[in-house]
Amino acid sequence: MEEQSFAMPRIGDPAPAFKAVTTQGEINFPEQYAGSWVILFSHPADFTPVCTSEFMTFASMEGQFAQANCQLVGLSVDGLYSHIAWLRTIKEKIQYKGMKDVEVRFPLIEDITMEVAKKYGMIQPGESSTKAVRAVFVIDPKGIIRTILYYPLSMGRNFDELYRVVIALQTADAFDIATPADWRPGDDVIVPTAGSCGVAKERMENQDLTCHDWFFCTKKLTKEQVLDAVLKQ
Ligand code: BEZ
Repeated sequence: MEEQSFAMPRIGDPAPAFKAVTTQGEINFPEQYAGSWVILFSHPADFTPVCTSEFMTFASMEGQFAQANCQLVGLSVDGLYSHIAWLRTIKEKIQYKGMKDVEVRFPLIEDITMEVAKKYGMIQPGESSTKAVRAVFVIDPKGIIRTILYYPLSMGRNFDELYRVVIALQTADAFDIATPADWRPGDDVIVPTAGSCGVAKERMENQDLTCHDWFFCTKKLTKEQVLDAVLKQ
């Protein structure tokens, strides 16, 4: 059969559309997620240890993501019955880092043909041509890709960081600001760089801003302001 080639999606692109079978029934992506943030993520294989630790962690945080209007969708190139058996094993048998009885309620896509994985650049042959790498796509309520992260097979992701990414994107949208290195809700935020000398001078004199130089001004944004905006998403 002729090999289909896909361009890798990029930040700012519409999320490539697909319909797929999942552990929660069929999904029409990203159309049915319109109005919600969504994290589409891939893992290499069911019944593997790093993936199991990741699914238990992500499933335990599902409510926290839901409160930020963010839904989760997983994918691997395994089949539906493998997915179902693996998720049942996780629930019935695995205890890990204080987590037990963990039920994965978000959909896990079966992608035996690798059609979706290829569309999203999740197959990276230098790492593996038979498994998806650990890819993460953060997609906004309009279906636009806002963040892309890729990890190799051997490295479990940091799910606190994924949550921080979602909150930082929502905060940037709500307040028209940028977030500095290692930002967490409650930390000062960056006001966009001034486009003219006049504005830069005004900024430097503005008592509400801390200007380190004309191009680098921050302002206070309380944790309450951030959480209020996030919860209204
Ligand atoms: C794992 O999840 O443990 C794993 C999966 C594929 C390759 C290496 C590790």
